[in-house]
Amino acid sequence: MKILMVCLGNICRSPLAQGILESKSSKLIVDSAGTANYHTGKSPDFRSVNIAKKYNIDINNQIARQFSSLDFEKFDKIYAMDNDNYSKIISLAKNQSEINKVELILNEIFPKEFQSVPDPYYGGKDGFQNIYDLLNSACDKIIEKYEIR
Ligand code: 4NP
Repeated sequence: MKILMVCLGNICRSPLAQGILESKSSKLIVDSAGTANYHTGKSPDFRSVNIAKKYNIDINNQIARQFSSLDFEKFDKIYAMDNDNYSKIISLAKNQSEINKVELILNEIFPKEFQSVPDPYYGGKDGFQNIYDLLNSACDKIIEKYEIR
C-alpha cells in the first residue's frame, strides 16, 4: 500500500507524518508533498526534525517537493493535513475515484469533525509537540484500519 501525506510547504507537518507512519510499518510505501512550491528541494524544518528525533525517528533525509496530479495515480491513499490543502488537492483531481483517495488525516481519529492539523510554522515549540501527538494517534489508527502492522 502506498500512502502520501500532504501539507502546504512539505517541511513541517507532512514530513513528520511520513516519518511517524514509516516507523510503524515496514509494509508501507510512504511519501509526502506540499501543495505549495516555495520550499521545494529543502530539508524538513529543524523543529520537525527535533520532535521526530525525540521519538527516535530520523526525517533528515527527506526533501520537499510539490504535490502533482500524477500523485493520484501513484498512491492508494492521500492524507491532507488541513482543510485548505484538502480543497487544493481535490481541485486537481480528474475524477471521482481520485477524489475518493483523499482524506483529512484527523478524520481518522475525530471522524467527520473535519479538523485541521494546526499549521506550526509561525508558532512556538509546543506547536510541534502538539502536531506530533495528533499525527502519532492518527497514524496508529491508519495502521489499525488497514491492518498493516
Ligand atoms: P507545513 O508548514 O505546511 O506543515 O510544511 C508550513 C511551512 C511553510 C509555510 C507555511 C506552512 N510558509 O508559509 O512558508
